[in-house]
Amino acid sequence: MRLKGKSALITGSARGIGRAFAEAYAREGATVAIADIDLEAAQATAKAIGSAAYALRLDVTDQSSIEAAVKAVEEKTGGLDVLINNAAIFDLAPIVEITRASYEKLFAVNVAGTLFMLQAAARSMIARGKGGRIINMASQAGRRGEPLVAVYCATKAAVISLTQSAGLDLIKHRINVNGIAPGVVDSDMWDQVDALFAKYENRPKGEKKRLVGEGVPYGRMGKPEDLAGMAVFLASDEADYIVAQTYNVDGGQWMS
Ligand SMILES: NC(=O)c1ccc[n+]([C@@H]2O[C@H](COP(=O)([O-])OP(=O)(O)OC[C@H]3O[C@@H](n4cnc5c(N)ncnc54)[C@H](O)[C@@H]3O)[C@@H](O)[C@H]2O)c1
Repeated sequence: MRLKGKSALITGSARGIGRAFAEAYAREGATVAIADIDLEAAQATAKAIGSAAYALRLDVTDQSSIEAAVKAVEEKTGGLDVLINNAAIFDLAPIVEITRASYEKLFAVNVAGTLFMLQAAARSMIARGKGGRIINMASQAGRRGEPLVAVYCATKAAVISLTQSAGLDLIKHRINVNGIAPGVVDSDMWDQVDALFAKYENRPKGEKKRLVGEGVPYGRMGKPEDLAGMAVFLASDEADYIVAQTYNVDGGQWMS
């Protein structure tokens, strides 16, 4: 029960990695807002987790939706202790085919969504005066560009940078901001990634996913649950002196 009594909001937690975080947080004693643009899926996830979870509709690209979600958490639980900025979207195209619409959508969700959720959470935490924890989901894609993945990689590099700046700015309020950089994780997002690689690299569906899994030193792709230990640790008292860091949790992928 390392998060006993904590109130957490996890963006994009109706499925995938965010859902695994919500399940782990509930097991560790936290109350969790399953905040997702897909309200029906968020409600189903909250129901499956049980009384420690509740669903909120949240669109991280919409400022009024962000503010309403933070207010809803304050009203429901008395105040926000932990935010995980997990919601993100993916797209892929060669440089010469990238569209402005795709660029703007990815930056709106992955970068502006992270920044303005972080800002709203920080304002709430500062007003309450009890500090807090903010965890941003980055990616190995944020540490190195890739030929077909320019925009997504750039958004995740921006998340690592925001984590550094916000971490340094907010620690005076006892708000620790840190990040997690997964490698390749088997989720709905990776099914979309695989389909796009199939199109642009002319491969059969499923091949890219199989190959990247085989390339991970651990011997397989990550599962959403593989990330949960780090998310619990960064929200726990044990991580109190950790500031502005982004940790790889990737089965050795980045080192290889
Ligand atoms: N899957 C991977 O291999 C991988 C690797 C590295 C990093 N990540 C990162 O981990 C995080 C979770 O990834 P995942 O694989 O679970 O993704 P996913 O696509 O399975 O889930 C993303 C969730 O975010 C929600 N969402 C999308 N747009 C939203 C918006 N505007 N507002 C609120 N919610 C919104 C979706 O409805 C969905 O429930 C993301 O930040 C992703 O970039 C994933």
